[in-house]
Amino acid sequence: SASKSPNASPRFPILLSILRRRYDFINKGPLELIQDGYNSLGDIFRIQILHQSVVFLIGPQAHKVFFEAKDNQLSQREVYTFTIPVFGKNIVYDASPKIMQQQLKFVNKGLNLINMKAHIGKIVMEAEEWFNRWPDSGEIDLMKEFSQLIILTASRCFLGKEIRENVQTEFAHLYQQLSDGMSHLSFFFPNAPTPAHRKRNAARSKIAKIFEKVIKQRRINETIEYDDFLQVLINARYLDDSTPTDDEITGLLLAALFAGQHTSNITSTWMGLLIIKNKSEWMSNLLEEQKQIMDKYHQDLSLDSLSEMNLLHAAMQETLRLYPPLVLLMRKVIEPILYNGYVISKGDIAVVSPPIAHRISNVYKNPEEFNPERFLGENPEDQKEKFSYIAFGGGRHSCLGEKFAYLQVKTIWSILLRKFDFELCQEHPEPDYSALVVGPKGPCIVKFKRKIDSL
Ligand code: HEM
Repeated sequence: SASKSPNASPRFPILLSILRRRYDFINKGPLELIQDGYNSLGDIFRIQILHQSVVFLIGPQAHKVFFEAKDNQLSQREVYTFTIPVFGKNIVYDASPKIMQQQLKFVNKGLNLINMKAHIGKIVMEAEEWFNRWPDSGEIDLMKEFSQLIILTASRCFLGKEIRENVQTEFAHLYQQLSDGMSHLSFFFPNAPTPAHRKRNAARSKIAKIFEKVIKQRRINETIEYDDFLQVLINARYLDDSTPTDDEITGLLLAALFAGQHTSNITSTWMGLLIIKNKSEWMSNLLEEQKQIMDKYHQDLSLDSLSEMNLLHAAMQETLRLYPPLVLLMRKVIEPILYNGYVISKGDIAVVSPPIAHRISNVYKNPEEFNPERFLGENPEDQKEKFSYIAFGGGRHSCLGEKFAYLQVKTIWSILLRKFDFELCQEHPEPDYSALVVGPKGPCIVKFKRKIDSL
């Protein structure tokens, strides 16, 4: 295991601190403890949780060994078994490494430039329609709004027109049951016989039936052209020229939805809260950017115009620095790994933590401050060293949906900033560590008022 650092014993102080702070650990989540470990023990330390030795790697240099390891050294599948009841058998983390790699290539293809252009048109349409339905003024829970909107955009871009237009309500309900069946309990015991897991399994079967029907129709009507992720999967071929089965297509669609839905929803919410909270500093520049770029593109919100909104982009990147929704990235150690004279043993769990990494003060100046400009100009803070910024992971398994996520969240805030004025009506929320994908705790209510002359 990660042996003792030269001037401290990594194991016992941490263990004691778990005991001392058990109450806080439950309420405040694991981060305080990890921060403590980093402050007192440095960039590699170990926490023993029951029989499991968990090794934390914190900071750009330590991240390098994590992200540059091969799959046969550090493996994802053992820590992602909780996804199997939702994604399905022989899909992603349950498939052989060779098949998994090909399936991830299918996902990548669904998110390439050609498909991205089609996705953006659909996202803009859904978002504009959604916000047009808001009254002229009122109070709204950002998190609830975005979660409903993003299930619509994801349905349209990934699952296709048939599901979006014919069975959206039914699908959203089943999707919710799948989500509810992915808790901390599921992480440790994915098949524990709980009501939530039973509902999850029933929802998975019903969703499979819905998709089977749509896939069958599409295979019959081959002349109609579709530009969604479902069609990319229907057309996909494994290296041996076989096609993904209907169940594999269903599983990959669900995997894309799960990877993209909560993460984008949470990020849109934090981003709104942070911009509104810091509006005296940032709003006028953000609006100026919107005006300039939308004028230049004749009010067309598109891949091209969105790609030029650098300050909006930096605001999202800064949001994800402060509040990355995935707070612990984990791997099972298959082959011992060396770092800085320490050995991380086979059987350990290796962990990196984006929110801890993003608050290292010699990488990010005044780390608690919301300052999108740290990512702009000649020397962006995240470019000084590789793996300083890990909201989307890094290396061979970094996020395949990063570009999609940026475009989606930027679309939402480009529209909202131009059309509405906002005010906060509550304290800034704390992160909710009881969820696997960490977002703001509790309601996120803001006041809004439609602008008379929207930009
Ligand atoms: C992987 C974050 C949106 C698809 C990851 C990882 C992170 C991440 C941290 C690495 C996990 C690990 O190393 O264990 C995010 C954030 C998002 C976002 C913060 C939004 C703000 C999306 C979207 C999609 C997506 C919209 C797809 C539609 C994936 C996939 C992987 C992944 C397929 C697995 C890649 C692999 O294992 O090779 N994401 N993600 N993500 N993400 Fe995202």
